[in-house]
Amino acid sequence: TESDGRPLPTTTTPHVLIFPFPAQGHITSMLNLAELLCLSNLRVTFLNSDYNHRRLLQFTSVQSRFAVYPELFYMLGIADGLPIDHPRSGEQILDLFESMRSVTKPLFKDLLLSIRPPLDCVISDGGLDFPLDVAGEVGIPVVHFRTIGASCFWTYFCIPDLIEAGELPIQGGEEEMDRLITKVPGAEGFLRCRDLPSLCRGRDLYHPYLQGMVSATRLSSKAYALILNTFPDLEGPILTQINSHCHKIYPIGPIHEHLRTKLKKLKPTQESSSSSSSSLWEEDRTCLGWLNGQPPKSVLYVNFGSITVMKAEDIIEIWHGLINSKQRFLWVMRQGSVVAELGSNSSTSTFPEELVKEYPGEEHMVVSGWVPQKEVLDHGAVGGFLTHSGWNSTLETIVAGVPMICLPYFADQQVNSRFTSEVWKLGLDMKDACERKVVEKVVTELMGERREELGSRAARMAELARRSVGLDGSSDRNLEALIEDIRSMRR
Ligand code: UDX
Repeated sequence: TESDGRPLPTTTTPHVLIFPFPAQGHITSMLNLAELLCLSNLRVTFLNSDYNHRRLLQFTSVQSRFAVYPELFYMLGIADGLPIDHPRSGEQILDLFESMRSVTKPLFKDLLLSIRPPLDCVISDGGLDFPLDVAGEVGIPVVHFRTIGASCFWTYFCIPDLIEAGELPIQGGEEEMDRLITKVPGAEGFLRCRDLPSLCRGRDLYHPYLQGMVSATRLSSKAYALILNTFPDLEGPILTQINSHCHKIYPIGPIHEHLRTKLKKLKPTQESSSSSSSSLWEEDRTCLGWLNGQPPKSVLYVNFGSITVMKAEDIIEIWHGLINSKQRFLWVMRQGSVVAELGSNSSTSTFPEELVKEYPGEEHMVVSGWVPQKEVLDHGAVGGFLTHSGWNSTLETIVAGVPMICLPYFADQQVNSRFTSEVWKLGLDMKDACERKVVEKVVTELMGERREELGSRAARMAELARRSVGLDGSSDRNLEALIEDIRSMRR
């Protein structure tokens, strides 16, 4: 029997459970992996936290996206252990590590034992440490999927060596932040203290979050395999380093483009970007109409992702920097992305309205809610992206061939922004300098005198990214090998 040209599952179809960490960037890339596996006729159960399961059903037509894979795709929810009104953003998102270890872990074990048909493989987020142990106890092979870049993965992996060599903790003041790190092989000569993952900035190297991140990363060497959302033309030397510590690695990225390429091959006439959405917020598409009216490559897109919570004073500095640069811009302000008051823990959705009112040149800028980012980046009017350097945003920007200004906030973003500016030379890094004069200077540079140089390098990397996911590209071959591996796990 066939449906839409695809065979229905049989008793020999392997069953894979995919389990992301409960945050947008993780869900997006792992849902793309789920669809790639369904396209190869593997059966997938996608496990979200109850909280995100509800939001995904509310804001995304995820059921219709997967309706074309009858009997191959299921979604389930599991408790994340946090109260419903917990913000799950900013640094507080780290609370999930503790709550999931105590509440989700035992439920996860029950699920692995009771799910039907029985599982052949678990693909779990490599940022979570417990799925490897739990699945190991019940005899199911675990493949790790890491949603961060190889460079940050490798940096976390090396942290014990940094501590042993006395390169961590960071002891002094501002000048100490520019000290070069020597114990991350492959990144000598450009990785500074300031470019280490943000958790390394504290003096407490035994902080449970840093310890948890390092031990989860090291655990990947015990997983059956490690999937990474990257490609060798981007992170080749670092992948070589990781390869010598992990059994098997499968770089299959940029995964969103990988999926887009495969879907396009199947249905050349269908525009896939909006149908492959996985947004946890309602998308505001009105900015696309505004972009249609702007000259080519004239707009700077500004967005700090799904978790960042910013201080109001940073917003004000960025705002004045943008206005003073006299460039057109589209600024996305997610609900709850601004700290209400200095020193306060609560967040607010409000962009300081008075800023917009004070400024007369409204036709030059738009402040918007959550947008369909890939469509914005692909729009011909966008000439640059002021980004927090989240890994998904970085890859989406690379594929779109758009140069970046990096203003990282936390976690892996400090590492990503350094590689973007110093290694790949696809943008300008303004980390730790959120001042209006700096913003004005880098925006003027990116949209002006350095536009051609950065733009042509970005176009070249976009081409390499597309090639890696095209027929017989490295990511394409790795995906085929991964699927063969999963088929061989059929019990
Ligand atoms: C964070 C980390 O920084 C990231 O590197 C890690 O891999 C996952 O956790 P986040 O801050 O959400 O993720 O950033 P990012 O990885 O860039 O993911 C954001 C996703 O949301 C992107 O796919 C982006 O396209 C999407 N997005 C964002 C929208 O669709 N609309 C928006 O308005 C903003």
